Amino acid sequence: MKILIATDKPFAPVAVNGIRTEVEKAGHELVLLEKYTEASQLLEAVADVDAMIIRSDIASKEVIDAAKHLKIIVRAGAGYDNIDLAAATANNVVAMNTPGQNSNAVAELALGMMVMAARNFYNGKAGTELSGKKVGIHAYGNVGKLVGKIAKGFGMEVLAFDPFVSKEEIEKDGVTVVDSVEALYSACEYISLHIPANDKTKASINFDLLKLMPKGATLVNTARKEVIHEADMIRLMNERADFKYCSDIAPGNAAEFEAFDGRYFFTPKKMGAQTAEANINAGIAAAKQIISFFETGDTTFKVN
Ligand code: 3PG
Repeated sequence: MKILIATDKPFAPVAVNGIRTEVEKAGHELVLLEKYTEASQLLEAVADVDAMIIRSDIASKEVIDAAKHLKIIVRAGAGYDNIDLAAATANNVVAMNTPGQNSNAVAELALGMMVMAARNFYNGKAGTELSGKKVGIHAYGNVGKLVGKIAKGFGMEVLAFDPFVSKEEIEKDGVTVVDSVEALYSACEYISLHIPANDKTKASINFDLLKLMPKGATLVNTARKEVIHEADMIRLMNERADFKYCSDIAPGNAAEFEAFDGRYFFTPKKMGAQTAEANINAGIAAAKQIISFFETGDTTFKVN
């Protein structure tokens, strides 16, 4: 079988080598499309492949329709909002993710951003400490759980809100469960966002919610830019000179943030999972899932 890695933002070479070893050991062929700049390059690359591994790359209906031999697509990572699942299903393509494999990288960056904001983005002025502050984990999945664990090492008090995880499961980690998003945002100086982007969550982090955060608040978003109500965020940054925003992905209206010098930070491309370790874990997991799908029909981690 021909397996394509299509990554606009490439894996670390050590991860690509590891994927290649797995793929070739199982008797398959690996092809690579990295740092592509045009959608047409992706359309061309998918034409004759049986499987593909992607990251935040957009697997649209057009891409999936063009991949006439495609049987499986694996998003090496957590969020699969970049795959048109209906198109995959309509074309008999199995879509999977690799949950948990890159979580530690994202969690470490979330805490790193909290430290950076607390220290005024390292501008030399006296900052504050994380110890003794409250961090609210908005969605207690693989990343949220790790953020809580690391935050405790900093001496932070950890609160969480997640209607999809039982209270008992969260509490056994020594985390305080609150019963509404409003309660979480009202209580915490730091909020770490870990919700997926879907029809219910898009633009849900709005002015009414953010304004509840205490004085000197910081929002850290390593989830998706789409969950932020971008116009509301600008309004809040204007009305609250004490508010800071950090994200591992630039918002659509990044240029408007220039007015808030010293209170925000973003990386232009999604960077939370951009470590050699996360690339190895997620990339090799994706390769193994594809190999085992071809060998035994295993559809663990299927999302469509
Ligand atoms: C994920 O959903 O796993 C993260 O957002 C990482 O995305 P990336 O693979 O594009 O870095």
